[in-house]
Amino acid sequence: MELALPWVEKYRPKELKEVVGQKAVVERLEAYAKEKDMPHLLFSGRAGIGKTACALALANGLYGSEGRNILELNASDERGIDVIRGKIKDFAATLSIGKVPFKVIFLDESDSLTRDAQNALRRTMEKYSRTCRFILSCNYSSKLIEPIQSRCALFRFTPLGDKDIRKRLEHIAKQEKLSIEDKAYVALEYVAEGDLRRAINILQVASTLSKKVTADSVYKVSARARPEEVREMIGLALKGKFLEARKALDALLYDYALSAEDVLLQVHREVVSSEDFDAKQKVALVDRIGEASFRVSEGANERIQLEAFLAQLVLMGAKK
Ligand SMILES: Nc1ncnc2c1ncn2[C@@H]1O[C@H](COP(=O)(O)OP(=O)(O)O)[C@@H](O)[C@H]1O
Ligand SMILES: [Mg+2]
Repeated sequence: MELALPWVEKYRPKELKEVVGQKAVVERLEAYAKEKDMPHLLFSGRAGIGKTACALALANGLYGSEGRNILELNASDERGIDVIRGKIKDFAATLSIGKVPFKVIFLDESDSLTRDAQNALRRTMEKYSRTCRFILSCNYSSKLIEPIQSRCALFRFTPLGDKDIRKRLEHIAKQEKLSIEDKAYVALEYVAEGDLRRAINILQVASTLSKKVTADSVYKVSARARPEEVREMIGLALKGKFLEARKALDALLYDYALSAEDVLLQVHREVVSSEDFDAKQKVALVDRIGEASFRVSEGANERIQLEAFLAQLVLMGAKK
C-alpha cells in the first residue's frame, strides 16, 4: 500500500470558499480577509467541523502569497503555558511581512488550559495585541474565563448537515477517482454524525478495500452496524422474540466486531430518533441503556449486560 497523505490533510480547504456549511461564519471571515482587519476571534464547536480549516483558510485569505504569518499552537499537547508564551514571544518579536499589519496566532483546544494558564494567556494577548490577532479554538466557550471571552468575537460552529458532508465527499471522490454508491453516502453521513473529519477518514480507509465504495465497506471499517439491523434487534426483543433478538445481537458483536459500548451507543441513537416509542417509553429505555453502559464501563460482563438489556425490552414489550 502506498504511504498516502491523510486525506483530511490533503483536502484541507485552502480557501474559505472551499469550506462547506458554516455559512454565517464564512461570510464574516471573508469580510475580515477582504478588509485585512479583524478582532481576536473565538471559534467554538465540536471536533471535525472546520474550525482549524477556517483559521488556516482565513490566514491564507489575509496574506495570500505574502507568506502565511500564522503560528499554530495546541494548548493541550504543548508542555504548558510557559512554552506557549515563549513561542508566542518569539513569533511576535518580528513584524508581519506584507500589507497586513498583524500576525495571526491560532491556539487550538484553548479550553483545555487551566484557569491560571488562561489568566497568563489573557495577559499575553494584551501584551501582543498591537502586532498579533489571536484565534482561539475550543469545544465549549463557557470553559474560558470571562476576560478572554469578552476580548474575542465569538463564532459558533455547528455540526455539519448531511448535504454539506456529501458535497465535500463528492469533491474528494472525484479527485481520487472513486465511485461511491448512493447508499454508501447515506452510510457515511450516518457514521459521521456531523463530523466531516470522521467521514473523510472512514472514506479513506474504505477506499483501500476497493475503489468502489459500498455501504457495507463503510460500516465495516467504521465499527458501526447498519442502523436497520440495530432497529431490528430492538424490534424483535419488544415483540418477545428473545432468542432471535439474541441472534441479532451476535451478528452485531461478531460480524461487525462491535464492543458492548458501541452497541449501546447505536441502540441509544435508534431509540432516541425512533417514532415507535412515546416519550415515556424513551425515558425508560434511555435509563436502561445508561445503566447497562455504566455497568459495562465498570467492568461487568458485556454479554450479560447486553442480554439483560434485551430481556428488559422483552418485559417492556409485554406490558405495552
Ligand atoms: N466545514 C468544512 N469544510 C471543509 N472541510 C472540512 C470542514 N470541516 C472539516 N473539514 C475537513 O476535516 C478536516 C478536519 O477539520 P478541522 O478544521 O481540523 O476540524 P476542527 O478544527 O473543527 O476539529 C479538515 O482538514 C478538512 O479536511
Ligand atoms: Mg481543530
